[in-house]
Parts: sequence; structure tokens; C-alpha cells
Amino acid sequence: MPLQALDHPLAGHLMAGLRDRETPPERFRALAKRLTTLLVLQATASLPTRTERVRTPIQETEARVLDSPLAAVPILRAGLGMMEPVVELFPDVAVGYIGLERHEETAIARSYYSKLPPLEGRTALVLDPMLATGGSAAQAVGLVSAAGAARVVMVCVVAAPEGVARLEAAHPGILIVAAALDEGLNERRYIVPGLGDFGDRLYGTG
Ligand code: PRP
Ligand code: URA
Repeated sequence: MPLQALDHPLAGHLMAGLRDRETPPERFRALAKRLTTLLVLQATASLPTRTERVRTPIQETEARVLDSPLAAVPILRAGLGMMEPVVELFPDVAVGYIGLERHEETAIARSYYSKLPPLEGRTALVLDPMLATGGSAAQAVGLVSAAGAARVVMVCVVAAPEGVARLEAAHPGILIVAAALDEGLNERRYIVPGLGDFGDRLYGTG
């Protein structure tokens, strides 16, 4: 599987709070931000670096610095809840937006917005907390690849095996980083056990 699942006690702890249906939106947003920090560290672990010489107050030494421009593309709406940690960790990141909405009955994602910066040569993180059927992620990764991204990493909170398989089939070799790989989908194509509708829980709607 092209999936890297976070294996860290803090990730499990934060997931427990996100899954709990009693967690109110304010706390849900805070937990999502903290968990995204862990996800983004994992997703960027193999970013290219180069060596530079720096002078400490004591002497000159070698230091490893980032050598690859980064882009982040949250899928509206729920992906917005993952943006803040990315811009905090990578202040020079270029940000684009893709708006996709699943149809309530068919679960087919409809595109309603797309604004991407030039992505040539960039590693692009596509941010969407829920990888359910994989339809939204597959569309978004297609748009980001078509815009020239050198490499795309899909960053999710919860993934279903169905979504992982669909994304891998549409974009072979893509790296998916998630905090949890769940059992599957229910008859409404929600992730089981999942955490419900991420966008609704983030923004207190629904
Ligand atoms: C949710 C979620 C993903 C999508 C996942 O968004 O944030 O974008 O569903 O489902 P899929 O893998 O089956 O495509 P939704 O369409 O509910 O929109 P929202 O973020 O505006 O709530
Ligand atoms: N979108 C969500 O927010 N949750 C799911 O379980 C599936 C799609």
C-alpha cells in the first residue's frame, strides 16, 4: 500500500479526540491543527535538501537547508482546517485551492472552484482530512499534477482502504500520509468508524 500511517502516541491521542462525537467544534479545530503538524512533518520527511556553510558564534559549520519549493492545496471546505500548520511550518509555501463537493446520494465529487499557483518543480501537499471513496482526492491530484507539480503527496486524517486503492489506481506511486487507516465505508460512503462529516464538525454545521 502506498500509505504511510502515523505511528505515534500523540497522533493516537489526538485521533481519539477527533473521533469522539462529543468533541465541540472549537476543540475539534484545535485537535485537527495539532494532528496536521504531525502529518505534515511525515509528508515532508523526504523533501530534498542541500548543504550550506553557516557561521555559528563559535565557528563555521555545515547545515542542511531545504532545497525544494513547496506548495499546499487544501480541498475546500474541510482541507482548510489543515492549512494553518502548513504555513506556520513552511512560511514560503505557495498555496492553491480546489473546491469539491460530494453529492449526498451518489458520493460523486463535483468541482466548483480551482485556483492553483504555478506548480512546476514544486512538491505539492494536497490536504483533505477524509479519503473515503477517493473520488475527491483523485480529481484534486489530477488537477495538481496537470498544473506541473514535480511530486504530489496526499495528506489525510482518516483513510478508507477503498479510497487508498482508488487514488493509487488513478495516480500510481503517489504517497499518501494519514493518521489512521479505517475499516471501510458504510452504505452512505462514510468512513467506518471514521469521525463523521469532518467539514460539519470543523465548522459546526450539519
Ligand atoms: C468530504 C471530504 C472530502 C470528501 C471525501 O468533503 O472533506 O473532500 O468528502 O470523500 P470521497 O473520498 O468519497 O470523495 P465534502 O464533499 O463533504 O465537502 P466539505 O469539505 O465541503 O464538507
Ligand atoms: N466525508 C467526510 O467528511 N467523512 C466521511 O466519512 C466521508 C466523507
